[in-house]
Amino acid sequence: MTGSPDSIQSEAASRFSIDHTFQASGDQFADDTRRGLRATPKTLLPHYFYDALGSALFAAICELPEYYLTRAETEILQTHGDDIATRMGTPSRLIELGSGSARKTRLLIHALLDRAPHLEFVPVDVDAGVLTMSSSELLTEFPALTIHAICGDFRDPGVTLSRLDRIPGRTAILFLGSSIGNLDLDQAESMLISLREALQPGDSLFLGADRKKSAAILEPAYDDALGVTAAFNRNLLVRMNRELGANFDLHSFAHRAFFNAARSRVEMHLVSTSAQRVRLDTLDIEIEFREGETIHTENSYKYDDETLAMLAARAGFTLETRWLDSNGWFTDLLLVAA
Ligand code: SAH
Ligand code: TRP
Repeated sequence: MTGSPDSIQSEAASRFSIDHTFQASGDQFADDTRRGLRATPKTLLPHYFYDALGSALFAAICELPEYYLTRAETEILQTHGDDIATRMGTPSRLIELGSGSARKTRLLIHALLDRAPHLEFVPVDVDAGVLTMSSSELLTEFPALTIHAICGDFRDPGVTLSRLDRIPGRTAILFLGSSIGNLDLDQAESMLISLREALQPGDSLFLGADRKKSAAILEPAYDDALGVTAAFNRNLLVRMNRELGANFDLHSFAHRAFFNAARSRVEMHLVSTSAQRVRLDTLDIEIEFREGETIHTENSYKYDDETLAMLAARAGFTLETRWLDSNGWFTDLLLVAA
């Protein structure tokens, strides 16, 4: 389906289109939730965080004093945007996986449009609302930009990107914000392989990853004093109550985040603070919780440079340049399809 939403006005609307590659996603949410809540341990898939409220809460997370990742990557793009754009070799198409608000992206779009008269931007996100909002802002700010948004899943980019027509010139992919860290290591590898297959030699991937560091810095970033991350996590319960007819009692589930050093990841859980039963009407199931039992909702892997380099090489990319923020906490890699 292609169309222009009402919120993008007049001239800008002629530079915008959106594709929905997600099938009846309500059914998918039901199936994934049934499977996840029946598994041991219980799990839910992280892309379901991002409904309208979830995306708004994530935007708030990015402003938190404890959540250093967004500031660190913004610093890298502000300091090195021109160098990054030059090394990308004048792409005619910029694709961003998990684009969200695309706040940081505008820094790079600015640098790319300093070097070329026109650019096609392809934001890919599960949340159609965030795609429309961010596109509307970008189209107003950059008259030389065309946007073809895709509401779809980035975990299999080969399939999602196969819907794009071929255009002359290079493609550059952005995968910012350490979203790669939300995939398990084998998922990350197969995702990069699928991505590489969708690219031509010389195309590039600009990849952001959070680096390994002490639990004293990592844990507050995922368990902030204001409780915004807790709200973001618990919003999954609100969503199941609304969309799957569930009766989760929000007062009896707590947010927990801790650094699992052995696996180099911050784990996010929802902890049942009492023994209880929850009913999900739409799924016609009841789920039993022990006191202290958790639903594992998300991982955020923390990388070292060697593991990132190995991952890139295995997927068929050559490391062109690597940047760090001034604390050395976050890294962005420019990878070129070999
Ligand atoms: N790139 C932004 C946003 C990161 S948050 C930044 O760096 O700040 C992750 C974004 O990816 C959200 O907008 C979310 O809706 C989207 N997302 C998460 N899982 C996804 C998936 N499997 N497929 C497509 N988009 C996904
Ligand atoms: N990619 C982000 C990260 O791993 C996503 C994120 C930030 C997140 N805060 C979160 C996911 C809290 C779940 C819960 O840092």
